[in-house]
Amino acid sequence: MADLLVFAGGLELKNPMLAASGCFGYGLEADPVIPPSLFGGIVTKTITPAPRRGNPVPRLAETHAGMLNSIGLENVGLDAFLADKLPALEDVDSKIVVSVSAGSAGEFAEMAERLAEHARVDALELNLSCPNVAEHGRNFAADPAAVAAIGKAVRRVFARPMWIKLSPNVTDISEVARAAQDAGADAVTAINTLLGMDINIDSGKSPFARVTAGLSGPAILPVALAAVWRIAREGGIPTIGVGGASSAKGLLKFLAAGAEAVQLGTVLFSDPGAPQRILDDLATHLDAQGHTNLNSLREQWKEQA
Ligand code: FUM
Repeated sequence: MADLLVFAGGLELKNPMLAASGCFGYGLEADPVIPPSLFGGIVTKTITPAPRRGNPVPRLAETHAGMLNSIGLENVGLDAFLADKLPALEDVDSKIVVSVSAGSAGEFAEMAERLAEHARVDALELNLSCPNVAEHGRNFAADPAAVAAIGKAVRRVFARPMWIKLSPNVTDISEVARAAQDAGADAVTAINTLLGMDINIDSGKSPFARVTAGLSGPAILPVALAAVWRIAREGGIPTIGVGGASSAKGLLKFLAAGAEAVQLGTVLFSDPGAPQRILDDLATHLDAQGHTNLNSLREQWKEQA
């Protein structure tokens, strides 16, 4: 059987498949239907300095090829995460990447400093790109200067791998990736959700209290691939791909576009058998092509380029 081990964003992962933030709770909620140890890494639901109740319901809507969400960063807050959620992950055989969000560079750094005290935190993912908390989906990831300032503030206090999650709702995502690189990030995660909305034809209005929401799922895979490719072709900062992958084929497309690893998101809600199937299909694909590991496949892609 081919070896699926990869080095991604400063971490050694036993396989290139991670659970995306916001789609796998704090790591244990889907167990045993989706065992957390299947993943090379788990990115936990974004936490903030204080607990958040999130946006009013409804918060979800299905689309033809995906899902709209307007959760509003509901979470237990840093204290409860450190007291209850993180210790519960002690025996999980996956890397733990903690997703964080805050209102300023200083707050981000304070959270990072406290998380650095815990050895179970393998990496941080700075969520600068949630479209569901400020007017019109505004977020830090639209502003390279803000990305640089927050990244630098966290880098000063957190020595382990730091990933920065970017937004697709910008003109040039590679410019924002460069700001993350200048700040000392080990990788960028691309992409968060696309700004979208639904309309209820009886009311003529959006069902969401904040009107707009974030679109995820298979519909955004081509957008995510293009974003990863744009960042990767500059050869600067490593990329973790996310957005619409739901099969081994989707995961391989991200790796071929230049991602070092791939996060599964919306598929975890619709198809709980997907993670195991993806690992099996990935190994079968490598074996069938005569590769003993993923690097060998990457080399083949390079030779063909
Ligand atoms: O609304 C939410 O909690 C979504 C977060 C995100 O997309 O980063």
